[in-house]
Amino acid sequence: MRIIQITDSHIYGDTVSNFDGINTKNSFEKVLQKIQTFKKPDLVVATGDLSMDGSTQSYAWLHKRLAKIDAPKVLIPGNHDKQDALASEFGSTCFLKYGSLVNDSWCFHFLNTAHAGSHSGRLLSQDLSVLDSSFYENREVFHAIFMHHPPVKVGSIWLDGMGLINSTEFWSTLEHVPNVKLIVCGHIHQELDIVSKNVRVLTSPSTCLQFKPLTSEYSADSLAPGFRVIDFLANGRFVTDVIRVPI
Ligand SMILES: [Fe+2]
Repeated sequence: MRIIQITDSHIYGDTVSNFDGINTKNSFEKVLQKIQTFKKPDLVVATGDLSMDGSTQSYAWLHKRLAKIDAPKVLIPGNHDKQDALASEFGSTCFLKYGSLVNDSWCFHFLNTAHAGSHSGRLLSQDLSVLDSSFYENREVFHAIFMHHPPVKVGSIWLDGMGLINSTEFWSTLEHVPNVKLIVCGHIHQELDIVSKNVRVLTSPSTCLQFKPLTSEYSADSLAPGFRVIDFLANGRFVTDVIRVPI
């Protein structure tokens, strides 16, 4: 089972706006071209901040481009997205509430951490409760969770200041679930690979602008945009790689 994660594309409704010097549409097109050279994924997951301005034009643009990848898609919102506009463009492939997909060996959970009026993340108790039930219902398989905000401190003061507010509640939901193997996030526009409470937590590069790690305030990095490939194996292991795409 191969999943390709793309994240933080920050697409604008117009063609000229840029994110600190990077035309987000151009960089997305480059990333897309690279993805198309890879073995076809079984699923593409877009982990939020798909649009910069929340415009219907930005989502329509993205929808057309994503259609070029011949695979099912799941989209979850980030703090920059306008959730009603996102959902109305993408319909049932967009999870504003808890969603999951299950195969023989793995259950993939999709959580919406974004909430109106804040760049910080928050999980609704209702979603955590459904997550808890889903762990129980799928207790024979391995689990991977996709969400925009990382549930850990990432070491940059300004990003940790807009992190997941109720991460303690999140981790307590996972406490008695031994088969949670992986949490995959966006939001911080950089690659991070750590283990927290015996669970691997990965973040991935944005398809546009990167942020420098371990900074006290916003600082753009010169690293290239990218995406992540994850191959999930039937024995609960997985192999993952970040692919950078020079622009
Ligand atoms: Fe972002």
